[in-house]
Amino acid sequence: MKQIIFLSFIAIFPSTIFFQDANTAKAKELVSKMTLDEKVNLVVGLGMKMPGMTPSSGALVGQTMDKVAGAAGTTFAIDHLGLPTTVVADGPAGLRIEPKRANDNNTYYATAFPVGTLLASTWDTKLIEEVGRAMGNEVKEYGVDVLLGPGMNIHRNPLGGRNFEYYSEDPLIAGKVAAAMVNGIESNGVGTSIKHFAVNNQERNRNSVNANVSERALREIYLKGFQIAIKESNPWTVMSSYNKLNGTYTSEEHDLLTTILRKEWGFKGLVMTDWFGGKDAVAQMKAGNDLLMPGTPTQAKAILEAINNGTLDKKILDENAERIVSYILGTQSFKKYAFSNKPDLKAHAAVARAAAAEGMILLRNEGKALPLANVKNIAAFGNTSYDFISGGTGSGDVNEEYTISLVQGLSNAGYLVDEEIKTLYSNHLTDYKTKHPKKEFFQEFMNPTPTAPELNVDDNLFSKKAAEADIALITIGRNAGEGADRKVENDFNLSEAEQALIKKVADAFHAKNKKVVVVMNVGGVIETASWRDKVDAILLSWQPGLEAGNAVADVLSGKVNASGKLATTFPVKYEDEPSAKNFPGKEFPEKAEPGMFGMKQIPAEVTYEEGIYVGYRYYNTFNVKPAYEFGYGLSYTDFKYGNLSLSSKTFDKDITATITITNTGKVAGKEVVELYITAAKGKLDKPSEELKGFAKTGLLQPGASETLTFTIDANALASFDTGATAWIADAGNYTVKIGASSANIKQAADFSLAKPIVTEQCNKVLAPPVPINELKK
Ligand code: BGC
Repeated sequence: MKQIIFLSFIAIFPSTIFFQDANTAKAKELVSKMTLDEKVNLVVGLGMKMPGMTPSSGALVGQTMDKVAGAAGTTFAIDHLGLPTTVVADGPAGLRIEPKRANDNNTYYATAFPVGTLLASTWDTKLIEEVGRAMGNEVKEYGVDVLLGPGMNIHRNPLGGRNFEYYSEDPLIAGKVAAAMVNGIESNGVGTSIKHFAVNNQERNRNSVNANVSERALREIYLKGFQIAIKESNPWTVMSSYNKLNGTYTSEEHDLLTTILRKEWGFKGLVMTDWFGGKDAVAQMKAGNDLLMPGTPTQAKAILEAINNGTLDKKILDENAERIVSYILGTQSFKKYAFSNKPDLKAHAAVARAAAAEGMILLRNEGKALPLANVKNIAAFGNTSYDFISGGTGSGDVNEEYTISLVQGLSNAGYLVDEEIKTLYSNHLTDYKTKHPKKEFFQEFMNPTPTAPELNVDDNLFSKKAAEADIALITIGRNAGEGADRKVENDFNLSEAEQALIKKVADAFHAKNKKVVVVMNVGGVIETASWRDKVDAILLSWQPGLEAGNAVADVLSGKVNASGKLATTFPVKYEDEPSAKNFPGKEFPEKAEPGMFGMKQIPAEVTYEEGIYVGYRYYNTFNVKPAYEFGYGLSYTDFKYGNLSLSSKTFDKDITATITITNTGKVAGKEVVELYITAAKGKLDKPSEELKGFAKTGLLQPGASETLTFTIDANALASFDTGATAWIADAGNYTVKIGASSANIKQAADFSLAKPIVTEQCNKVLAPPVPINELKK
């Protein structure tokens, strides 16, 4: 009996908790042996070195910044206590380090895995864990201790410049996917840093913007995913964000980093700032932001002064230092792991390719244009067909050895790509790149050179190629990243040149009874409603990592059946977005102050008036029809949803929902199955549906079935009641809806809850400083 209890205890608590607890005692002892200077040096990173950047910070102490070239930072070593320097490096889509080193003929390329938005579109947490395992292996084998990811902020607005790094508009998906990623990466004995905690939903004024968010929207939308990730994966570290939340920098907010993260959620690891984030080092210490990255001498001085003049309690500094030491004791650097610098890049490329194909979404497939049948010659238009984008820019960009372009992938799969068009595009791209060389590292990092404008193809070529080729393919490409949000014109919306290209290709090929397929090589949402009817098929390939073209060819050819679904809504037009009128907020240029690297920092404010109505929670509740709804995606086969059965009609501790999915089509395929709940009508305003579970079937052969079981617990019924400062499941009738998307509900069944349940009593913290005129039903 004893043994059984012990086993189930292990099953519930991840093993990292045990090592954390053992390390805590040891860390306390080591910190007690440190001098004040050592403690201060420990809580401040070692500075940063980037080519072309002359930060005011410079190196603080020591010269360990080159330990792994291109890593984002290092921590202070204390030799006499046996504490080595440790290394942290970006970023969510793979390990970001310098691929080449001075006086060294070896290369240090890493695998560019598909971006976060694509991974979430797989809805397959097992697969994501596998990606994490491969990614974490590269972290370990290149001598890095912590990967600065996954990024898991909510897609609040389609223009968010870093949305590609993030997962979804829905916190359940964001949380589950992040947890799978953390578990995969950390299974290698290296750490992660889930980021950016919290409410970092825009790049504009990212270091100065204050986001005003109601307590309910904060808990239900912006914190929920982090809460799930902490509970289900217990990451080594959390990275606080750049922005202010309800008036205070998140890295200086005790209620966020200590009351909620540590006390309510039980987080045991360390919190680090985002790079140069926040303003007041002493406030950061007090808030529980243990490590200031990458660290500046000014911060160290401020902390030392505060200790000396009594405004910072020594106990607080000790606690912060203890959490850092506790982390160091778990690292591979501490264990002196003999890393190889030779991860199996070939094997990881295969993982990246398989994951990429799983997350691509078939948005449209009229007349069964796909998979390609009786197609040999392909006329490929659009710059990015030849210069495919593997991932976004900024710290989330991986230095991979190659990216397979779309046309390369098609050739590899045995198709013939039209050479005349290829030459035209290749010359255009080479010409553009020669005239617009990349800037030096830091300038390019903060402000990437725009990609080439669409080639103006001679009109005669369209009809010529429509006669020669079997099918036309057009790639629409978009890139974005750190430092800037996207724009509506020529980015969210297609440019005139792109619209013209689609129309001319479609007219010419349809006149010859030939099909036109669009591949969307984008990191975020774009407008589709104005042009989608002109083409036969649309494949949303996202930014699929280094094996891009091969993975797209796998899906186009039907070697892999499309099975991705949208984890983010595609609205008809930008103005439909509930956050559009509050993005990116108001600026106060007259109050500008000096910011990082000599740049001006403009105070700004954004108020989340859409409240909890983010993404499909808004579109469904307010009956605004999107172009493609959350959860949507087609397949080359069809699925039948059997009857939904609930374990009970009345809720006690939980209810299980069971449904059988059958492949009724002609080819094998996988189906993503989504469970939504319509909550009982209580005193709070509720979205008409909320995602409370999801699953993906295995590969079902034609005629084969799989029975899926979902468990609905009380948490799935609860909303955050601001008045009670608690999560409460109201008494009343609930409807379970099983859908192929948020708008395509296949089965529904009701159950009732007799008495309200308080699932979680919280602390009254983080109230917005101003009244918010929140959207209501
Ligand atoms: C980004 C973080 C990143 C860090 C280190 C910051 O600019 O916001 O996401 O991890 O740099 O490179």
